[in-house]
Amino acid sequence: MQSKNTITALLTCIVLVAAGLWLLQHSFAKKLSAEFKDAYPKEEQATGVIVEYPLIAQPSTIKLPSGIIQNAWTYNGTTPGPEIRLTLGDTLRIPFTNNLPQETTVHFHGIRVSHAMDGVPGVTQEPIQPRETFVYEFTPKDPGTFWFHPHVRGAEQLERGLYGTIIVEDAYSKSATIDKALVLDDWRLSDAHTINEHFNHPHDITHDGRWGDRTVNSKTHEEFVVQPGSKVRLRLVNTANGRVFRVRFSEEVSLVAVDGMYLEEPMVYTDMDIAPGNRIDIEFIATDNMTIHDTFWSPDHLLANIIVEGEGIIPRAAEYPTVHIPDWNNEEIVAMRPDIEYELTGKQNHGSMVTHGWTLNGNAYGEDVPFVITEDEVVKVRFNNTSGRLHPMHIHGQFFKVVAKNGEAFNEPFWRDTVLLYGGEVVDVLMNPIDAGEWALHCHIQEHAESGMMTTLIVE
Ligand code: C2O
Ligand code: CU
Repeated sequence: MQSKNTITALLTCIVLVAAGLWLLQHSFAKKLSAEFKDAYPKEEQATGVIVEYPLIAQPSTIKLPSGIIQNAWTYNGTTPGPEIRLTLGDTLRIPFTNNLPQETTVHFHGIRVSHAMDGVPGVTQEPIQPRETFVYEFTPKDPGTFWFHPHVRGAEQLERGLYGTIIVEDAYSKSATIDKALVLDDWRLSDAHTINEHFNHPHDITHDGRWGDRTVNSKTHEEFVVQPGSKVRLRLVNTANGRVFRVRFSEEVSLVAVDGMYLEEPMVYTDMDIAPGNRIDIEFIATDNMTIHDTFWSPDHLLANIIVEGEGIIPRAAEYPTVHIPDWNNEEIVAMRPDIEYELTGKQNHGSMVTHGWTLNGNAYGEDVPFVITEDEVVKVRFNNTSGRLHPMHIHGQFFKVVAKNGEAFNEPFWRDTVLLYGGEVVDVLMNPIDAGEWALHCHIQEHAESGMMTTLIVE
């Protein structure tokens, strides 16, 4: 009798403490959400301007530095595909036709579109069959640098050349003298005339995806001339299947946006890893010639050569946009228990060390049970990479802030939609979901996502 009472008392105690802790964390999360409130529009704010941009995915012959490639796939005949420029408030309507020999969809990476326009087969739409047409239509809610690509058989479809950029301009970006996208990719060729068609090679799946020869806008590097005094805005986008670029500028430049979203104020840029999916926006006033290199993989690769020449000009002044990025940076946040945790692991074959694909929490896509989170409530998400490989983790329809790495505070003063994890790394992010829907969450290395490292996250 006596011991039964003690046990009951003990259990009550445990329940009370747990409830107390839950309440504490919950009210703390509420406080963190309040810091975010209304900083970003929830609804589309259309001005009524409709930009109609037909897009056709098709087999094409293209020209790469190494020669003519006959087995590429393109949007509208070129790779990178078209650069679609809009002004914030415009509605983009894309009648899309699939002229590929296999099904596809188009996903608009980083753009907060409505769920039905997100291009994830089996989640937001049925795959678009060969010869079929599907109309995508949305009004971007944020200005910035975004891109689009298929969400079906990405390891093959992106690698063959299917990607393009969407740039949503605002008053500030229009003040630039030169505004240019640098689309970073790499190609693995069999000979001068063909793309190596061994997609999803086991070596690429078990390592960091498919890496080939580096290109910028499908050339070995970009080269352009600007007049002294020009205000230059560069938008770097990594569209590669697996390759990470570590981008170095030879002169001082400012970082103005990451993954499409502005910083509160420009900061001096220091070398960053641009993983598949990532974008950075850079700005500077042209004074001296400049080079841009990738130093992630040796030897370094020249990405761009900028020559400053000609008559001097005076750049147009413009006010930097007002944005709000919560601080979300203290010990309490680091100590916060994650609401959701994803373990990033490989699939082992009968106990051998051979990895046959990738999982989140031990489940490949299809076996997974999606987590459910609540709109307008801060959640802490932990990515725990227990593998030795790279995983750039991407969440659709959302943006988040890195708050800790390996249990230590790590304060990034900007939003991301894709964060790179190194082997063995643990990264915590905070996110305040504002757009409801079922959103894909996956590694952006195409060979990893396709072999299982994907799930969805439901925002209710
Ligand atoms: Cu570029 Cu599912 O993403
Ligand atoms: Cu991965």
